[in-house]
Amino acid sequence: MKEIVVFSSGAGSNAEKIISYFKKVSDVCISVVYTNNPAAGVLKKAKNHGVKTRVFSAQEYQKEVLKELLSINPAIIVLAGFLWKIPKNYIDNFPNKIINIHPSLLPKYGGNGMYGNNVFKEVFKNKEELTGITIHYIDEKFDTGPIIFQAQVKLLPNDDVTEIANKTRQLEHKFFSAQIHKLIR
Ligand code: GAR
Repeated sequence: MKEIVVFSSGAGSNAEKIISYFKKVSDVCISVVYTNNPAAGVLKKAKNHGVKTRVFSAQEYQKEVLKELLSINPAIIVLAGFLWKIPKNYIDNFPNKIINIHPSLLPKYGGNGMYGNNVFKEVFKNKEELTGITIHYIDEKFDTGPIIFQAQVKLLPNDDVTEIANKTRQLEHKFFSAQIHKLIR
């Protein structure tokens, strides 16, 4: 059985999609959903699906969590809306095994502070005609690791921030799980 570990800090719509997708895959399971945020919506979503959750503190993030991951030995670690930086010792222990999804066509609209609505507001402000998603490996900076997959969507002149967010999320939900599956196959 291949195990996937998911990290999420917020609502967890992507985490939920991933959980649902892999319920139908017999040789893969979601072993645990990790979050730094005790109020994260992802906790309820994971529990509803019977997936184990683990809330951790900044202190536990230094050592404990890494120790747990080493004992799980996951096939892949998926960051699905996880907002803390990944420490170097995690990357060293899991080379090419930690991936992230970002709601823009990187390298556009990436970097520190660029997450969720901050990204969509910038895309809107710059009157982009095209936006999309990027799935990439994690490196020591924000949003700069090698790109695995991108998908694009056209924007219309009257698309507001909410519509940009909707279009982007639809792409995430459509492609993320299958890309994860491809990577671990
Ligand atoms: C997703 O749109 C993801 O791309 C973004 O957070 C959202 C999480 O939504 N991640 C980043 O912005 C990382 N820089 P979700 O909790 O509903 O899956």
